Amino acid sequence: MILKLDNVTMKFGAFTALSHLNFDIEEKEIFGIAGPNGAGKTTIFNVITGTLPGTGKILFDDQNIINLKPYQICNRGIARTFQTPQLFSTLSVYQNIKVGAHFGGQIKENQDSVIKEMMDFVCLKAKETELAENLTLLEKKQVMVATALATKPKILLLDEPISGLGESDVDFFLELIQKINRELGITIIVIEHLMKFIIQLCDRLMILDNGEKVIIGPPLEVTKTKEVIDIYLGSGGEDNA
Ligand SMILES: Nc1ncnc2c1ncn2[C@@H]1O[C@H](COP(=O)(O)OP(=O)(O)O)[C@@H](O)[C@H]1O
Ligand SMILES: [Mg+2]
Repeated sequence: MILKLDNVTMKFGAFTALSHLNFDIEEKEIFGIAGPNGAGKTTIFNVITGTLPGTGKILFDDQNIINLKPYQICNRGIARTFQTPQLFSTLSVYQNIKVGAHFGGQIKENQDSVIKEMMDFVCLKAKETELAENLTLLEKKQVMVATALATKPKILLLDEPISGLGESDVDFFLELIQKINRELGITIIVIEHLMKFIIQLCDRLMILDNGEKVIIGPPLEVTKTKEVIDIYLGSGGEDNA
């Protein structure tokens, strides 16, 4: 086990976004999180990475990291991407990844080689000097992943990584995620609400609804349970199935 959430709760005022969550992440697995819009999926990432305060414990390598500062959590080895690419639009691909390397504490030694290695890994070498604002959505997502990888994470959190991509780009991106997992040995937690991709990608899947864990298990089994079918066919869930 590499990460453990123990009774994690997060409230926005009187509204409970995450309620007494308990789950473990195994080293080197691809763990999926799915559930309707507003279920609390992104909030889990925000609490794990220290951008929102929570209560309970988050054990990473057996140390409680809950409510540490985001850069401290990143330095320990947890990196994330966002659903909408968050880049410095007037900086080049290289410079964007350099910011990541800096945030992750890689700045001291062999910075240039880490940046180039990750640029190459996500297949962006040809775009090294291109400004982020001139990139396609796929390329922006590649930069965001390379930036996260440049922090040398043990765990990578991906928030709806394929949203907005066309079909062939989706295939490329799913392969990239698998390559990060297999070749770099990085544990992955991925939020995705399209079931066919979750089933393809993940070793285990957790369904979240109203800030609560509904079920965890092998994706194919989980998606066939009555409670999960009810959630996805319930009001507002039609476009998620
Ligand atoms: N900054 C915030 N202030 C108040 N409520 C928020 C904030 N961020 C998210 N929420 C609410 O918390 C719930 C969970 O949000 P989120 O984690 O973004 O859902 P998901 O990623 O599963 O779609 C939603 O009801 C959302 O409206
Ligand atoms: Mg979200």
